Amino acid sequence: MLLQLNVILIAILIAILSTTKAESQVAQSLPGCPDKCGNITIPYPFGTQKHCSLSEAYQVNCKNLSVPKANFKILNITVDGLMYGLLPVAHQCYNSTGSINQLQHNIKLSRFRISSTLNLLTAVGCHANAALKDLKDGSYISVCISRTSCNGLENGSCFGQGCMQVPLPFRLTKFRLHAQRVTTKVGSWSFNNCTYAFLVQKDQYTFHETDLDKMHNRSFPVALEWTVGNTSCKEAKKNKNSYICKENSICVDSLVKVDQGNPGYTCSCAKGYQGNAYLPHGCQDVNECEGPQNDCVYGVYGCLNTNGSYTCSCPSGMLGDGRESGSGCTHIEAKSLRSFLYIAIGTGPAASIVLTFILYWGLKQRRTIKNKEMFFKKNGGLILQKILFESKQPSHKAKIFAARVLVKATNNFHKTNVIGQGGYGTVYKGTLEDNTRVAIKKSKSIDENQIEQFINEVIMLSEVSHPNVVRLLGCCLETQTPLLVYEFVTNKTVFHHLHQKDCVSSMTFERRLNIATQTAEALAHIHSTTQIIHRDIKSSNILLTDDYTVKVSDFGISRFIPMDQTHIQTLVHGTLGYIDPEYFRSGILTEKSDVYSFGMVLVELITGRKVYSYDGTESELGLAMFFVSSLERGCLIQILDDQAKKEGISDHIDYVAKIAKDCIQLEGKKRPNMEVVKEELEKLRQSFIKSSPGESWSSSLD
Ligand SMILES: *[C@@H]1O[C@H](CO)[C@@H](O)[C@H](O)[C@H]1NC(C)=O
Ligand SMILES: *[C@@H]1O[C@H](CO)[C@@H](O)[C@H](O)[C@H]1NC(C)=O
Ligand SMILES: *[C@@H]1O[C@H](CO)[C@@H](O)[C@H](O)[C@H]1NC(C)=O
Ligand SMILES: *[C@@H]1O[C@H](CO)[C@@H](O)[C@H](O)[C@H]1NC(C)=O
Ligand SMILES: *[C@@H]1O[C@H](CO)[C@@H](O)[C@H](O)[C@H]1NC(C)=O
Ligand SMILES: *[C@@H]1O[C@H](CO)[C@@H](O)[C@H](O)[C@H]1NC(C)=O
Ligand SMILES: *[C@@H]1O[C@H](CO)[C@@H](O)[C@H](O)[C@H]1NC(C)=O
Ligand SMILES: *[C@@H]1O[C@H](CO)[C@@H](O)[C@H](O)[C@H]1NC(C)=O
Ligand SMILES: *[C@@H]1O[C@H](CO)[C@@H](O)[C@H](O)[C@H]1NC(C)=O
Repeated sequence: MLLQLNVILIAILIAILSTTKAESQVAQSLPGCPDKCGNITIPYPFGTQKHCSLSEAYQVNCKNLSVPKANFKILNITVDGLMYGLLPVAHQCYNSTGSINQLQHNIKLSRFRISSTLNLLTAVGCHANAALKDLKDGSYISVCISRTSCNGLENGSCFGQGCMQVPLPFRLTKFRLHAQRVTTKVGSWSFNNCTYAFLVQKDQYTFHETDLDKMHNRSFPVALEWTVGNTSCKEAKKNKNSYICKENSICVDSLVKVDQGNPGYTCSCAKGYQGNAYLPHGCQDVNECEGPQNDCVYGVYGCLNTNGSYTCSCPSGMLGDGRESGSGCTHIEAKSLRSFLYIAIGTGPAASIVLTFILYWGLKQRRTIKNKEMFFKKNGGLILQKILFESKQPSHKAKIFAARVLVKATNNFHKTNVIGQGGYGTVYKGTLEDNTRVAIKKSKSIDENQIEQFINEVIMLSEVSHPNVVRLLGCCLETQTPLLVYEFVTNKTVFHHLHQKDCVSSMTFERRLNIATQTAEALAHIHSTTQIIHRDIKSSNILLTDDYTVKVSDFGISRFIPMDQTHIQTLVHGTLGYIDPEYFRSGILTEKSDVYSFGMVLVELITGRKVYSYDGTESELGLAMFFVSSLERGCLIQILDDQAKKEGISDHIDYVAKIAKDCIQLEGKKRPNMEVVKEELEKLRQSFIKSSPGESWSSSLD
């Protein structure tokens, strides 16, 4: 417990000292200096004018992209101590009379060095030699292609057949490059009278047999290292005036052969910073909280950026380091919370400091939250976080999912994971890291004016725990539109089972009665424990598990998603039949509207007909009117589903029909509430099981 306290205290101290910065494009040059030659970035200590570079050696001539006292053309410069330049090819050729025509290169690199790890010395030719002499100390290396080469030329390989590459044993700053034919016998190979020698960046040269004799005027990229100063880091740090690395950086000694003089050092940003370490304020804090770099359990919400690092925190009522890689966040039992406070208070004056800090921390948290991501704000993340962080009941089950977790779970929302699509958005299936299967609903944007209610509803729904309601596990608000994460239900919808030919036979009357009863139970439960109205009860929103247990989906959330044109159309054509006509006329929604929709599901269950059908056999008013009029004319039996007719005992069917009729009364006040409907259906189900013992046996075996 005291350890936890220490962790919290450290977090508090860091939090107090930190500020949140806006992400900005980090400058690469001194103020007022151009940072580019054409499209090539020139980072300080390099510069294009005298006062813009560290010294003359770093002054880039933009016209021919060169630096003084060096004869290579710059391709690019990176701030991490590398630059790429073009170097020419040396050659030696014989003509038919045996005369030699050759070109050697004396290459000067000023204070820059050819990297010995990133480049290769290359020879192209037959029975030939590429040689390189360090003009500073006279050391010499060569690469030889043997006499027997060029008998088995192979495109793309450089292992001795017409081509050979070797690594460089040391860094070079001034050297001669030349090519040499080993044999002087003219015409040994009619296709090859020339030898070439060049340096090239690894993997940047591929040999082709057509290159033989045809490489005179080519040049190749090489990687060069650059450093600053001419001492070691240790020496440089002694003299503050000439030490070049700026704040929040580290100094790195250049590794080089001792006898080559001191090559200086490079500067790079310390961990948690990025940018140009040679410029004042060049190393900028990386805001780990905004990117995927942090591993806070509560993502952006429980993350606090600090200079060079970040801390994670847990909502109030929870303890832990808040990190996925660490102890995460766990609820403190009320009892242990009390003993925690006793310990704090028991330690005397220190305790009041601790408590003050805790209070300060709370305030600080709230202040820092103000700077969080735009989407998160737009989507009500602040409100949700506030509710979760400040909740007195640690029982809140709504979980905030980090976007990266859901991206991983759905293989980046791959289209093979789509399991549903409609006017509301798209539903994906996914698997979380702990192997939980989830359905992730990617909605159209939510109505910004209703965010607070939306969040409240998310929290309320996530706390509903009823066996016949699909569980809302939580949401992710970091994305452009909020993602809702539900438990995954495996066996499609009631609509599918009723209207898909090969499924109908599995829909026994008892099963239909069970579905009706369980759906009524779910609705009754929601109506009695929350203020939530479903609004869109229909057979395609009633999901089934493998053993045909009902899971009602999509509670409440639908009203926050503005309906676009296409949705209104599908509403009119597809699900109009379920809508309470009173609500449709008046716009006033009550829980009796759900009762009406439920009544239509009952009708659908016993008639097996789609609630609105296009075939014109039913009146414009749809199945509701058709059902009621058939019932009044005493010809219900004609419109019943065959399956229901076969198995249902006519008394039972009549009774379900009566309940359905009560539910779809035009006047909402006359409809029973869900509690009553549930009880009647339950009674009916019991009596059905008693009256058909065969069924009851098989159902009790389930
Ligand atoms: C810069 O521009 C030249 C042509 O103007 C182009 O060939 C080269 O690829 C460009 N380099 C980069 C890094 O964009
Ligand atoms: C680039 O131009 C400058 C002056 O125009 C000249 O002194 C220098 O030698 C040139 N460098 C190369 C590599 O051509
Ligand atoms: C610099 O140029 C080299 C050689 O063309 C290339 O391999 C490297 O990717 C380039 N680096 C950048 C940062 O453009
Ligand atoms: C190389 O030299 C031989 C002998 O002089 C000549 O026959 C041949 O044409 C030359 N090949 C090339 C590619 O110049
Ligand atoms: C070979 O080169 C020598 C010297 O460059 C030249 O005098 C002679 O004419 C050349 N021979 C041929 C056949 O090109
Ligand atoms: C090598 O490639 C060239 C064309 O690039 C082709 O003409 C030649 O036949 C190839 N040689 C081998 C050995 O594949
Ligand atoms: C190389 O370039 C020079 C001058 O641009 C030209 O005279 C010569 O013919 C070229 N050589 C080859 C083999 O392309
Ligand atoms: C190192 O650099 C400083 C300043 O650029 C210069 O005064 C000094 O002579 C250099 N020392 C050596 C050994 O090159
Ligand atoms: C964090 O960085 C800002 C800006 O550079 C600075 O004002 C602040 O003092 C730094 N805090 C710490 C703890 O270094």
